[in-house]
Amino acid sequence: MTKSNITLPLFFTLLFALLTFIDVSTGAANVFNVVSFGAKPDGVTDSTGAFLKAWQAACGSVAAATVMVPIGTFMVKGITFGGPCKSRLKFQLAGTVVAPPDYRAFGNSGYWILFNKVSKISLIGGTFDARANGFWACRKSGQSCPPGVRSITFNSGKDVIISGVKSMNSQVTHMTLNGCTNVAVRNVKLVAPGNSPNTDGFHVQFSTGVTFTGSTVQTGDDCVAIGAGTRNFLISKLACGPGHGVSIGSLAKELNEDGVENVTLSSSVFTGTQNGVRIKSWARPSNGFVKNVFFQNLIMKNVQNPIIIDQNYCPSHKGCPTEVYIHTRGWPALRAVTYKNIQGTSATQQAMKLVCSQSNPCTGITLQDIKLTYKKGTPATSYCFNALGTSLGVIQPTSCLNR
Ligand SMILES: *[C@@H]1O[C@H](CO)[C@@H](O)[C@H](O)[C@H]1NC(C)=O
Repeated sequence: MTKSNITLPLFFTLLFALLTFIDVSTGAANVFNVVSFGAKPDGVTDSTGAFLKAWQAACGSVAAATVMVPIGTFMVKGITFGGPCKSRLKFQLAGTVVAPPDYRAFGNSGYWILFNKVSKISLIGGTFDARANGFWACRKSGQSCPPGVRSITFNSGKDVIISGVKSMNSQVTHMTLNGCTNVAVRNVKLVAPGNSPNTDGFHVQFSTGVTFTGSTVQTGDDCVAIGAGTRNFLISKLACGPGHGVSIGSLAKELNEDGVENVTLSSSVFTGTQNGVRIKSWARPSNGFVKNVFFQNLIMKNVQNPIIIDQNYCPSHKGCPTEVYIHTRGWPALRAVTYKNIQGTSATQQAMKLVCSQSNPCTGITLQDIKLTYKKGTPATSYCFNALGTSLGVIQPTSCLNR
């Protein structure tokens, strides 16, 4: 009798504790739905304040928390999700977030959705549509336009997962990592028309330990742009095109510039792009460098410049820096770049172009098992300038490397 009197309440206490524990560990108790904070899924009402309140509640939670964006279309203006937060966060979207209809609403801020100094966060699902048609039209007309905003940016983030996110019609870059550590990006889709100006897909700089896997990028500029200070970056299973391909650079923007190191791109397909794999730097004095880069198992389908190094990058062709100006300092050093098992078709005859600096040649370039064709009856060609390295296996077009 006495025994069961004690046991029964104890049993319920334990059960309650257990359920609470399950609740917290699955995050169910800590879901902050933006609609509960006043967001309207009508695509018109300004939901910026509601998103911010939901974020602040989640970010201040001592237990792991989720910001929930349910099905529907939510209009959100420029917003900063600031950290650090008290616990691990999930930002889970089922719906679509759209930018305000007038691109001028952003002013000169540079960002639409910014995660600033947030660690241990997963951004899962959803669509972000920046609706930049008006902005592109402004740019193309040659009027003076605002500088444009990046759609999704992580500044100084650590331990970040981005999965299943779609970004559409960005003004400029779709997704940017700046000063981040340990970031896994999976199955994202970055989409803008092939003729939209400067709509880079995924841009990484000053970041270490980033993986970008299983993603599709169809846009008007670089599919992936790799800037100064990128280390240990792995890209795999990328479908790129339309777009300008994967670019390291442009580098040598500054005299004192961080390098790019240990970048691997593998198992990817380029379709109708301007470039396949490109390394570009301005012909300016710089202590920047590129080393230990692996491009492997790639398929090129009708790509204009499948393999290209351009250390004379100067897209405007006006007032370009020159070798004469910089010869005492040298260009950014480029060493240990491997191209292995790259096959497919080139849309121009010159399928391989490796143009390095006169004063500071590229060294340690390896070409292995390259098969790039042009037109039936017209073989593809290669062109090298001061590019040193070795060839292994069959190289088509013929290797132009110097030893
Ligand atoms: C190079 O980067 C990969 C990730 O892509 C990492 O696993 C590896 O440890 C890095 N290597 C070095 C020498 O840092």
